[in-house]
Order: sequence, then C-alpha cells, then structure tokens
Amino acid sequence: MGFKLTERIKDIMARDQKVMITTTKGDVPFVPHHGDGSSVYDVSGNRFIDFSSFISVYNFGVNANASVRKAVNGQVSRLMHSAFTDFYAEEPVAFAEDLISMFPKGFGRVFFSNSGTEANEAAIKFARKFTSRQYLMGFYNAFHGRTYGSLSLTSSKAVQREGFGPFNSVVHVPYAYCYRCPLSMEYPSCGVACADYINDYPLSKEVSPKEVAALFIEPVQGEGGYIVPPKEFVKKVRKIASDNGILLVSDEVQAGYMRTGKFLALDNFGVEADIYSMAKAVGGGLPMGVTITRRSLGDMPPGAHANTFGGNLVSVAAGHALLRYVKANMGSIEEQVRTKGRIITSRLNELKESCELIGDVRGIGLMIGVEFVKDRRTKEPAGKERDMIIETCFKNGLVLLPAGTSTLRIIPPITISLKDLSEGMDTLEAAIKSVASKM
Ligand SMILES: Cc1ncc(COP(=O)(O)O)c(C=O)c1O
Repeated sequence: MGFKLTERIKDIMARDQKVMITTTKGDVPFVPHHGDGSSVYDVSGNRFIDFSSFISVYNFGVNANASVRKAVNGQVSRLMHSAFTDFYAEEPVAFAEDLISMFPKGFGRVFFSNSGTEANEAAIKFARKFTSRQYLMGFYNAFHGRTYGSLSLTSSKAVQREGFGPFNSVVHVPYAYCYRCPLSMEYPSCGVACADYINDYPLSKEVSPKEVAALFIEPVQGEGGYIVPPKEFVKKVRKIASDNGILLVSDEVQAGYMRTGKFLALDNFGVEADIYSMAKAVGGGLPMGVTITRRSLGDMPPGAHANTFGGNLVSVAAGHALLRYVKANMGSIEEQVRTKGRIITSRLNELKESCELIGDVRGIGLMIGVEFVKDRRTKEPAGKERDMIIETCFKNGLVLLPAGTSTLRIIPPITISLKDLSEGMDTLEAAIKSVASKM
C-alpha cells in the first residue's frame, strides 16, 4: 500500500490546528473522504482498511449500508426536524417501539438525544428523580462522557477532569481489571473482592446506600482500556445495587449494539440493568443517543427533561433502517462476530507466545483489546510502543485506535470481509513485530 502524505493533507491539518479547539486528535494524518464496507479513502486517494469503525459508530461498515443511506435520503427530502419533544411524529415512536423489543421484558420508556454523554446525562437525571436520591457511583477507568454529569462519573484519565471541577457527588470504586488488579490479588482466588469492596468501604464508610441513586457500569470498559470483567463481578455488582435500592445503569454506548455479539453487552453477564444508555452505532452513522428505562420506574413530569433535536427525523430514519437490518440479519451477525472475533484473538494469542511486547489479549466478540507492556513481569505499560504500532499500521493502510494507557482497540466493522480482516491482521502483526524488534 504505502501511505502518501500529500500537500493537501498537510494543508488541512495545519488549517485545523489554527481554527479548531484541540480535542483528542493525535498526530495520525488521517483525513477520510469516502468509504464503503471496510475500505476508506482519504482526500488524496490513499486507501485504508478500517479496524476502528470510526470510534465504534460504523459497526456495519464505513458510511453505513445502502438501506441506511436510502432511508436518510428519503427522510431529508420530506422533513428533517419535527420538534419531536414538543410536537408529535410517528417515526421516532415507531423506532422506539422497535428498539424496546431488543431490551429485556419490562422495558421501557425511551428518551432520544444526540450523543453518548447526553444519554448518560438523561440517565443520571432520571435515576435521581425516580429514587429521590442524590449520590452516584461509578468505576475507576470508566468513560461515560465529557459533559458535567457524565464527566463526574468518568474516571479513566485525570486529564479528562483536570481543571474542570467541582463535579457532581460521585463515589468511584474499583473495576475488575484483573490484568492489573486494583487490590493486587489474583482471579479467581480473589473471589472478586473488588465487588465486595463496594459494600465494605464506600457504602459502609462514606455514603449511606439510602442516598445512592445509581451505579453506572460499562459491561466492557472501552476508553479505559478494553477491560472485560469476570461474570461473577458483574453479578455481584447487580446484587449490591438491588439489595440497596440503587439503580444499575448499563452504559452500552461503546460495548452495545452487537459489538460483543449481543445487542446488549450486559447480556453476556446474565444480568439486567434498570436503565440502559446507547449512542454511537445506534444512529446508523448519524448523531443519536438513547436512554431507556424500566417501565416500573415511572415517568418524568412534563417539562422536567427534554431537548431540541432528540428524535430528529433524519437520525431516526438512519437508526431505524439499521435496526431493521440488524433484526433481519441477527443470526448472520452473531455468527460473524463469533467467527471474526475468534480469528483475531487466535492470531494475537499465537503472536503473544513469541512476542513479549504483548501483555494481554482480551475481549468479547469483536470488541478486542491488546495491552502492550515493556516487561511481562513488571507489566510496565508500553504506551509509546503502542502509539508506534498505530502509526506503522496507518502508514501501511490500516486504521486503528488506542484505549487506556497502552492498549490497542481492534473493532473492525462486523461486516468486514474476510479478505480485509486477514490483510489487516497481516499489517498489524508485522507492525507489532517491527516495533518489538526495536526494543
Ligand atoms: C462507554 C461510553 N459512554 C459514553 C461515551 C460518550 O459518548 P459521546 O462521545 O457520544 O458523548 C463514550 C464515548 O466514547 C463511551 O465510550
């Protein structure tokens, strides 16, 4: 392949740096222009295979699929905005009815917004209103968004919070990050002591359980490092919440929507939440956040919560077309996640045997993380090496994203062709070997 850094790419990057507020952009000179399936082309015609799904949005292919694009074009030509929270429209209601069928029995009532952070803001407000309690609990390493409510829960990198306090009343507790156990224990002999910690410390010594409205959990932590907890951990967390009348909120923004092979990532652990939040893939490539609550929790009084663009007709058209595709192809999607996930993890585990740089390979379905370490014994994070691997892959036509301190996320579109998957893995393996050989 061979990436060509053209004057056009350099010019766009320089102009961006002049006028845009800095966000999370790194140094990777990726300026996408068009794409389809697992291929994406930049403004200068460089071709890439996508292993990022553009931050977990294009779960079914770059630029969504033809049915989504057709639905969007049709809706744009009729009516884009219906002021859905003030007036009525059939499309968002029909989408909500269809979405509810993907959730456990007893769900739900749906609130539409425009992003993951807004979906979580709504979940916070609903939980407080439903319980008349004030405090929230969240996990270390969690990422729930960057607006004030969700940022108060976010605890994956200090830089995301530095200078922005004060925050809402949130108590943070350890997540079952077994590769780097926060309690320096070993699974399974630990008996998931990190879950017991919630009862033994914060809920006994810091805040009365009667004052905690909700406990937020990512079933698989995303931004914090693609961390998969043991099933017993999630089950214990569910029990602690239930025993204390605390609502469990499952943030499915990154792990949900078939990424793990199930519509809801929490289903992998055999428990149900009381509120779910979703975004990213749910809008079929357009901005969409969804908060869905257990019906028995009740409703909001009129005027208590609303927005302007929630349920906008174009995002709804995209999201509904994608949901119809998912429902019609459920068996094949589940099978693709299983098969392709297995191909990736077995290749990485095989490489791990000879490559000391790979500390841990983990994931469920097609949500896979590789954590790099400088030394397998000390587990010193190899963050710089991880970044070099991403850069090398990029120059050889493969788009990847980091997570946590030294983890690489591998999240190709579920529909990626086996040819692109194999080619992408060849590129990734070569990059890992090349960076490892320079250490
Ligand atoms: C688990 C999780 N929750 C919430 C968010 C925030 O979503 P958004 O960036 O759409 O606000 C993200 C974004 O990466 C996420 O991964």
